Amino acid sequence: MSFPQPIGVFDSGIGGLTVVAALRAALPAERIFYLGDTARVPYGGKSAQTVERYSLEIGQYLLDHGAKAIVVACNTASALAVPRLERAFNVPIVGVIIPGARAAVRATRNGRIGVIGTRATISSRAYEHAIKALLPSAKIIGHACPVLVPLIEEGWLNDKITDQAIERYLRPLLDAGIDTLVLGCTHYPLLREAIAKIAGPEVVIVDSAQNCASAVDELLSENDLAAKNGHNGALHVAFTDQSSGFLPVAERALGLRVGGIQIVSLPERK
Ligand code: DGL
Repeated sequence: MSFPQPIGVFDSGIGGLTVVAALRAALPAERIFYLGDTARVPYGGKSAQTVERYSLEIGQYLLDHGAKAIVVACNTASALAVPRLERAFNVPIVGVIIPGARAAVRATRNGRIGVIGTRATISSRAYEHAIKALLPSAKIIGHACPVLVPLIEEGWLNDKITDQAIERYLRPLLDAGIDTLVLGCTHYPLLREAIAKIAGPEVVIVDSAQNCASAVDELLSENDLAAKNGHNGALHVAFTDQSSGFLPVAERALGLRVGGIQIVSLPERK
């Protein structure tokens, strides 16, 4: 019997484990190989060219390790590099933007959709384009929230300072009357409760991690790539540098057991 091929999942660092947790819950029979580029995180302030290059290197690494599909569990890399990855590689590629955009369009009642993410994701306007392709009348209010990632990595998930930062970032979006808020950064699902508290009950929170997992499920079935029932799924995690104290924070908050971590170096892509 051949060894089942993994789904390759990558992020700039550890935040993409929010997508892994959703994938493990939705697709327990799948093997997942997660690569966190902890040596070069964050991607959120880097240029499109650099994020594309990093993504190609990681995509190649995942394919060299047998990946049957690649999940870009990073909003910044999804916003800037998915078309390039699709041209370069011959396996299905799933980013988080399209699934998040679809969910936002399903959720909105008044067509006013807020999107929060890194500077690179917001200035790419990738969510805006994806949402408007589905709902041309939508009004998208994007806001970069660069301070949130370091607060999350510090483990300040329930903290007055984090609440103040969220309030300050969300205020213009709430004043603009959004009824839907896309968490356009893979770290943000860890702040879901804090964000929901400030956004209020009228605002639907769209979590790109969960929607991405449903999109992967569909894509594997369509391409006849789903693991056969009976295979015991597994999670293998590799980083490009040793991880910070954020890993235990993410594991605890997500109820995810990561186990041993492998430290790897990526070959440069010619
Ligand atoms: N993973 C990134 C994202 O989802 C956030 C962290 C970073 O800036 O690299 O956009």
